[in-house]
Amino acid sequence: VLMGAGIPKEIPGVLDRFAAHEPAQIKFEVEGMGSDTAYLSFDPRVHSEKPPVAVKRPYFLPIIASNSLATMLTRKATGRVDGFVIEAPTAGGHNAPPRGELVLNERGEPQYGERDVVDLEKMKEHGLPFWLAGSAGSPEALAQALDAGAAGIQVGTLFAYTEESGISPKLKQDVIRQAQEDRIDVLTDGRASPTGFPFKVVQIGGTMSDPSTYGKRERVCDLGYLREAYRRQDGRIDYRCAAEPVDTYVKKGGVAENTEGRKCLCNALFATIGQPQVRKSGLPEEAPLITSGDALKNIRRFIGSDRAGYTAGEVIDYLMSGLKRAMPTLQRSEQHAGR
Ligand SMILES: Cc1cc2nc3c(=O)[nH]c(=O)nc-3n(C[C@H](O)[C@H](O)[C@H](O)COP(=O)(O)O)c2cc1C
Repeated sequence: VLMGAGIPKEIPGVLDRFAAHEPAQIKFEVEGMGSDTAYLSFDPRVHSEKPPVAVKRPYFLPIIASNSLATMLTRKATGRVDGFVIEAPTAGGHNAPPRGELVLNERGEPQYGERDVVDLEKMKEHGLPFWLAGSAGSPEALAQALDAGAAGIQVGTLFAYTEESGISPKLKQDVIRQAQEDRIDVLTDGRASPTGFPFKVVQIGGTMSDPSTYGKRERVCDLGYLREAYRRQDGRIDYRCAAEPVDTYVKKGGVAENTEGRKCLCNALFATIGQPQVRKSGLPEEAPLITSGDALKNIRRFIGSDRAGYTAGEVIDYLMSGLKRAMPTLQRSEQHAGR
């Protein structure tokens, strides 16, 4: 189980309990709860009639972007943490916000600095394996990661445009063509994600990165994976999303400024994998949005100026091509199982 965003300190304990078929609960973050606490609970026994089969507790690897979060999780997690993925702000998808005061460049991108670099020497003190993510997709970066004490790397961007990837073929082709023509542009968009976290967006016409495509979309929240919970005046818990219709969001107590520039990632990302929701007549179907890391232009090595595609196997062969020793495996962390 890999988990980023937030402080997943209750998850290890939940995994322990679920693996033993015991009920578990975690705190439910609800805005406006004051001193009350809401919980989310689940009892696996309610859903199994026969005596349940034994299951192995999965490994738990939190995705972190700071030494302090790693230290906090090793000390305060409710169960075993098996290692860490350390994600740099160059990685595709959501990024952790920069530490300290928020400074934006002229394109509105949050600026990262020295304070956002994780100290790997300090990471080693936890005695747990860690993997480096974010522009780590090269044999050189893999060698450097291993030299610095990492167990390996986590790579996303290079795989996103392979034949095996679920991104729709047309979009893959558009990005591949952009790479061939050296026109790749990835924006760290501080506004797009309704979560408020920076989100990497490939700038490409016909997708939600294009102001005219964004402007044509009628706001609707009908998937809801990124909603936040809040307590209504009558005490009930409800949900709102900064990318839903502005008046609805404000009626639910949200602040209007919060909605500016927000994009419905739920609908857009479904469109990206070729599953756009079809809207009532007259409205365009949902447009896609592509996320990738800052190192996206490196896909050029697989396609040159004439190839239309490449495979995940080619990426793996490339990444492993400089390897002179065996990669450590997660087995290492079994030593920590009793901690
Ligand atoms: C298309 C795409 C989608 C991603 N979606 C998620 C996600 O949903 N959750 C997550 O934790 N990381 C996500 N990531 C980040 C990857 O897990 C990984 O950490 C990152 O891609 C590594 O850096 P790289 O982009 O430089 O290869 C995504 C990355 C890409 C390229």
